[in-house]
Amino acid sequence: MTKTVVGFSKLIKEEKIKWLAKTYLSDNKIAITTLKGYWNDDKQLQQLHDEFIENTISNFYLPYAIAPNFIINGRPYVIPMAIEESSVVAASSLTAKFWSTRGGFKTKVISTIKTGQVHFMYNGDFNELHNYFNSIKSKLFEATEGITKNMRKRGGGILDIELKNKTDKLPNYYQLHVSFETKDSMGANFINSCLESIAKAFRPDSYREEEIEIIMSILSNYIPECLVRAEVSCKIDELGENAEMFAKNFYQAVQIAKVEPYRAVTHNKGIMNGVDAVVIATGNDFRAVGAGAHAYAAKDGQYRSLSHCSINDGIFKFWIEIPLALGTVGGLTKLHPLAKLSLEILQKPSAKELMQVVAVAGLAQNFAALKALTTTGIQHGHMKMHLQNILNQLGATQEEKIELMNYFDDRQVSFSMASEALEKLRVTKLLE
Ligand code: MEV
Repeated sequence: MTKTVVGFSKLIKEEKIKWLAKTYLSDNKIAITTLKGYWNDDKQLQQLHDEFIENTISNFYLPYAIAPNFIINGRPYVIPMAIEESSVVAASSLTAKFWSTRGGFKTKVISTIKTGQVHFMYNGDFNELHNYFNSIKSKLFEATEGITKNMRKRGGGILDIELKNKTDKLPNYYQLHVSFETKDSMGANFINSCLESIAKAFRPDSYREEEIEIIMSILSNYIPECLVRAEVSCKIDELGENAEMFAKNFYQAVQIAKVEPYRAVTHNKGIMNGVDAVVIATGNDFRAVGAGAHAYAAKDGQYRSLSHCSINDGIFKFWIEIPLALGTVGGLTKLHPLAKLSLEILQKPSAKELMQVVAVAGLAQNFAALKALTTTGIQHGHMKMHLQNILNQLGATQEEKIELMNYFDDRQVSFSMASEALEKLRVTKLLE
C-alpha cells in the first residue's frame, strides 16, 4: 500500500485522521479516540487552535502552572509557566520564596536592538558599491515607510542600515545589516517585511543584475544587543545552613560551567527550563529565544555559562545576562487565550518588563539546580516530583498513589523501586 498522499491539506480533519490511522497506526480505534480525546468541546476555541497551523488533527497539552512569591525590583509577581518537566515549577516556587526574604530579584534591560540582513553577492568594485549604497540609503528608508509607520508612532522602527563587506568570509558576499527597535512586539514579521522591501529597493529590477544578486532577506535570531540582566545577592551568612561552604561550592559550580562546555550546555539547559516555560506560557517563540541564548553563550568562540557568580566582601552575588526577543503584542500573545491570560497574570507587561520576568525565571531555575547539585544532588527532589508520573505509568489508583507517596517520602525513588513497592502494596491489600 502506498504511504504517500496527494492533497492532504484539503481533507477535513476527520478524513485526515482516518487516513493516518488506516495507513500508519496499528489500532485505529485507540488512535482515533486518543486524537479526538484532546479536541476541545468549545468548537470556536478548537477552530482557533486548528487554524494556528496546517494539518491540525488534535491538540498537544502541556501543563500550565503558576509560580508565586517572586519579588522583582520590589514588586510581587506570579509567574505563569507551561512545561512538562516534573520539578521545574516546584523549583521556581522554592527559589522565589527563598529570595523573597533576601531582597528579591533585581533586573535591568541593557538594550533592545534587533537586527536582520539582506544577504547578497556582488562581483564588482567595492568602492562603486559603497558609493551606490550611500546614494540610495535614504531611498531604502523611504521604501519601508508604509510598513514602519505604526511602529514609528510607537517609538520604534529602523535604526540604521549599514553595508557590510563579508568577502573575507565568502567570496563576493556582502550584507545590508539593518538594526531595528520593535518596542512591544517581537517583531519577526515586521523585520522580515522591512528587509524584503529594502532588498527590492536596493536592487531594483532595472539595476545591473549581473553585479548584485540578492540571496535572501531575513531577521537574525542572534540578538546580542537585545539583552537583559537579572540578579540576586545577599550576605553569605544569610544563605542558610553551612552558608560559607554552600557559597563556595555554588561559586565553583558556576566557574566549571564557564570553562567546561560539557557542563555549560547542561547548566544553560537548566536556565532554559525556566526561560522556555514562561516564553511558551506567554505565546512567544521559544525556538527563537533558544537559538539566540545559546549563540550568545558561545559569543567568544567557546560555549559558556549564561550565569555568573561572585563572592566579594562577604556578599554572594548571582546573575544572568541573556538576550531575549519577546513580544507582548502581536503573534499569538493576544490570540491564544492562555497566552493572553498569562500576560494578564503578569499585570500586562511591556516587552521590556517581560524580558525581565523571563530572565528571572531562568536565573531562579539555575539557582535551584545548582543549589540541589552542590548539596543533596539533583535526583532527590527530581525523582520525588517524578514519582507521580511513574505511578501513573504503572497504573496506580489514587489510593495507592497516596500510600506510595507517603512511603517514598524519606526513601530513594526509582522506577523499579516504585514498581516493586506497588506490587508489594497490592499483595498486602489482597491478604488483608
Ligand atoms: C534538568 O532539566 C536540568 C539540570 O540538569 C540543570 C543543571 O544540571 O544545572 C538539573
